[in-house]
Amino acid sequence: MRENVVSLRAIEKVFPNGTRGLSPLDLEIEKGELVSLIGPSGCGKSTLLKVIANLHTPTAGDVRWWGRNFDHVGKDGSRLAFVFQEPTLMPWADTTTNVRLPLDLDGVPYTEAMTRVPAALQTVGLSHVANRFPAQLSGGMKMRVSIARALVTRPNLLLMDEPFGALDEMTRNKLDEDMARLCAEEHLTMLFVTHSLYEAAFLSTRVIIMAAHPGRIFAEYHIDPGIQRDESFRMSNQFAEICRDLNRLLGEASHASALEMAN
Ligand SMILES: Nc1ncnc2c1ncn2[C@@H]1O[C@H](COP(=O)(O)OP(=O)(O)OP(=O)(O)O)[C@@H](O)[C@H]1O
Ligand SMILES: [Mg+2]
Repeated sequence: MRENVVSLRAIEKVFPNGTRGLSPLDLEIEKGELVSLIGPSGCGKSTLLKVIANLHTPTAGDVRWWGRNFDHVGKDGSRLAFVFQEPTLMPWADTTTNVRLPLDLDGVPYTEAMTRVPAALQTVGLSHVANRFPAQLSGGMKMRVSIARALVTRPNLLLMDEPFGALDEMTRNKLDEDMARLCAEEHLTMLFVTHSLYEAAFLSTRVIIMAAHPGRIFAEYHIDPGIQRDESFRMSNQFAEICRDLNRLLGEASHASALEMAN
């Protein structure tokens, strides 16, 4: 059954300095979709994600989460979590304490929290560094801690803003494969921003290509959700074709953005 997770109607965001971050924009995300946002720098990807996370209030338009307003978010079956580009860990706290933070803030009893944290660490393959501090972790590990901190809240919607942007290609590929597995196992719905069309091609069931000046949806590209996201998919002709299509659309979106800027 289709279940609407997020619905945006005629969303606009104009910043106090007059910059139009988003022009009237409509978007629906259904349960189980893995949606990526790609587009030229400054086209409003982060702004859109923050509107959905309720970190930005839109200037106009209507946002619904599971068909209701934000007051209802956080109850069973309607939890969202945000992973930022930087891992933003507390340097003085070990991995366990960092991952436990949202549970402490939510008032989850310590004993329950201490069963959920190891489970989240196991999911991201970090059980062996539970007692290490951020300075003792690699960049990829810190990002995994940050993802575990999001997963420990058992989100139904995961929002990620260029989570693997600062990592090398191989680490990113590995994390993308882990994310694909995780999304399938946990039946996650995910919306993520990426600068890598390869990452978008690998992970998404739908790619939204945005254009700038003002920020808007330029094109949408659907990828068969039934595809197994693994190494053989990455090596396939099908993957190469998807990347080619996305590359073309991204080029067109950049061109359209530059034209708008010139006018
Ligand atoms: N707080 C703010 N005040 C004023 N303008 C802003 C603010 N945040 C973003 N903008 C502007 O809104 C537009 C969209 O910004 P946004 O950060 O959403 O782009 P982006 O697509 O995420 O870019 P990037 O790929 O570089 O991260 C840009 O022109 C940006 O300068
Ligand atoms: Mg951004």
